[in-house]
Amino acid sequence: MQQSTFLRVSGVSVRFGGINALTDVSLDVPQNRVTSVIGPNGAGKTTLFNAISGFYPVAEGSIRFQEHDLLAQPASRRAHLGISRTFQNLALFPGMSVLENIKLGVHPHLRAGLLAGMVYLGKARREEIEATARIDESVLDLLDIRPYRDKPVSGLPYGVLKRIELARALVMSPRLLMLDEPFAGMNHTEKGQMAAHIRRIIDTTDVTALLIDHHMESIMAMSDQVTVLNFGKVIASGTPDEIKRDKAVIDAYLGQD
Ligand SMILES: Nc1ncnc2c1ncn2[C@@H]1O[C@H](COP(=O)(O)OP(=O)(O)OP(=O)(O)O)[C@@H](O)[C@H]1O
Ligand SMILES: [Mg+2]
Repeated sequence: MQQSTFLRVSGVSVRFGGINALTDVSLDVPQNRVTSVIGPNGAGKTTLFNAISGFYPVAEGSIRFQEHDLLAQPASRRAHLGISRTFQNLALFPGMSVLENIKLGVHPHLRAGLLAGMVYLGKARREEIEATARIDESVLDLLDIRPYRDKPVSGLPYGVLKRIELARALVMSPRLLMLDEPFAGMNHTEKGQMAAHIRRIIDTTDVTALLIDHHMESIMAMSDQVTVLNFGKVIASGTPDEIKRDKAVIDAYLGQD
């Protein structure tokens, strides 16, 4: 029996002037599995996320998300369809509280926008209250950040900051959660904590995870399937065990840290 498509990237190419950041990249992300994309620095991993999110234009190929032709949808619409992500570098507002930062993950979805809020103050206020309640109920405990709820983001430990970003990406209960190097810049303890949190999210919510890392080891253990990029091309796809034994992958990683 044919399984219905969840996310399918087919023959995607992305170019910047003379640079082929992605060339003919295909990738299938099955629902409720953990799929990872690994590859050395500059391999095109973040570009792939940006193509899926709609931040970068795709020169060739197609991307399907469930019944949708994703490339026909603007970035804002893709978020509404249930596609969410974190960024490789911290993207938090230091002066704002943890709660306010997480609320930014709700705002694209708030029906009463700023302008409308001036007219329908009551409605905007109600949606704000609903957003806070949603955050209180759905992500603060899941990610162990309730103690920091009303504190300013600046000065919090790095591992906590990365969890706040994760909370922001999760708050609207996305169907697809894309994590761009969730372990970047972490020490051993923080990595362990982050891995446990990601595991908990995968086990307790209905989200399908797509992860990026440039280190092989970090995400192999939690991945059901892995695709390897090098110089913008897919050089291997398979289970973690198949990938670890793959000659092209070993060659691509020779000389890497
Ligand atoms: N906005 C952009 N403008 C021009 N070139 C870009 C842009 N974004 C990415 N590139 C180029 O595309 C290629 C792939 O970059 P990308 O950031 O996707 O790699 P990556 O696999 O995420 O690397 P890293 O592990 O360092 O994060 C690189 O050559 C990069 O310089
Ligand atoms: Mg990157």
